[in-house]
Amino acid sequence: MQEIGLNSSDSQKTAEILHKYLASEIVLNLKIRNFHWNIEGIHFNDLHKFFEELYTSGASYADEVAERIRTLGYHTQASMKEYIQITIISEEDNIKMPSHEMISQLLKDNEKIIQELRKDIDTIGETGDQGTEDFLTGLIQKHEKDSWMLRSLQG
Ligand SMILES: [Fe+2]
Repeated sequence: MQEIGLNSSDSQKTAEILHKYLASEIVLNLKIRNFHWNIEGIHFNDLHKFFEELYTSGASYADEVAERIRTLGYHTQASMKEYIQITIISEEDNIKMPSHEMISQLLKDNEKIIQELRKDIDTIGETGDQGTEDFLTGLIQKHEKDSWMLRSLQG
C-alpha cells in the first residue's frame, strides 16, 4: 500500500474507471487498424496514412492509461475477454465499409469517450486524486484533437 494521500477504496474505483478507458482505447485501436487495412477508394492514400497516425497515437494513449493504473498501485488487466466486457466502444467487424462511414464512426467513438471522460473526471476529482484528474483531462484533450481532425475530413 503506497502512502500518497489517497483512500484505498477510492483508488480501487479509480483503477476500475481507468480499466474502462484502457479497454476502450484497445478496442478503438483495432477498429482504426481495420479501417487502415481495408480502406478503399479515391482517398485511399490519405486516409490509409491518417488512420496509421491515429492508431499510433492511440496506442500510446492505451499505454499511458495502463501505466497510470500501475502508478496507482494496481496491476493492469491484459485480457481481450475482459476488455470486451468493459469497453464503451463497440467492435467493428465490417471490413468493407465506405470511407465516410469509417470517419463518422471514429468521430462518434471519440466523442463518446470525451463525454464519458467528463463524467468520470468529476467523480475522480471528488476523491482528491488530482494526478488522475489531470491525466484524464489530458486524455480528453487528445481525443478532442482527434475529433477535430476527423470532423474536418467531413468537410
Ligand atoms: Fe500499415
